[in-house]
Amino acid sequence: MRLNGKIAIITGAGRGIGAAIAEAFVREGAATVIAERDNATGKATAERLGENALFVQTDVTDRASADAAIAMVRERFGRIDVLVNNAGINVFHEPLQTSDAEWQRCMAVDLEGVWRMCRAVLPAMLERNAGSIVNIASSHSSTIIPGTFPYPVAKHGLLGLTWASGIRICGAQYSGECHRAGLYRDRAGIGLLEHFPRPRGRTAAHL
Ligand SMILES: NC(=O)c1ccc[n+]([C@@H]2O[C@H](COP(=O)([O-])OP(=O)(O)OC[C@H]3O[C@@H](n4cnc5c(N)ncnc54)[C@H](O)[C@@H]3O)[C@@H](O)[C@H]2O)c1
Repeated sequence: MRLNGKIAIITGAGRGIGAAIAEAFVREGAATVIAERDNATGKATAERLGENALFVQTDVTDRASADAAIAMVRERFGRIDVLVNNAGINVFHEPLQTSDAEWQRCMAVDLEGVWRMCRAVLPAMLERNAGSIVNIASSHSSTIIPGTFPYPVAKHGLLGLTWASGIRICGAQYSGECHRAGLYRDRAGIGLLEHFPRPRGRTAAHL
């Protein structure tokens, strides 16, 4: 078991990719915190994963909620080894049809929520000089698919957030990457994404 004894927090782990990540962490021996906004799915996933999973209701758009979740985990386990910033929402429009509220809803979860959780967990990791943060980006971090605005804005921003905070905090040698989840991981997906434009100079190899 590769994560035996580790303490991990997975945001948005009530369902979907986050629940699958939490399941893998539990399987590999980590004490795994399901930091999920939705009470019902958060509880159900923690129950399904057994005694090594703990649900802590967390809204990553709310600084008090993010700080309280991190503080609670530190108090209970003494440290945090891994934070996986997985919580995300799809907000899909055309640019000029995107209201301020929809823009803000997207940025609040997909970009600011990640920073909120990083900011809450980093002091404890820096104190121990140990810890890992994994940010879940997207194939939308590299490709522009019609009708999906402003989601790619947030997911491109997530690359910037990862590199800017990584270099400023860990030093110029920092070479971390977001995990760019998405269709591109299978051949059919790569073929599909080939049809959509990318920012100039980016190729399929950047996906
Ligand atoms: N599914 C895909 O094909 C795909 C592709 C690329 C990237 N992603 C990214 O992977 C991540 C997970 O995607 P998914 O498809 O599993 O999504 P999903 O909608 O199935 O699950 C997202 C989870 O996040 C939770 N959540 C939403 N807002 C939250 C908040 N404010 N605080 C805490 N939890 C919150 C939801 O309640 C839900 O449980 C997202 O960041 C998404 O952008 C997904």
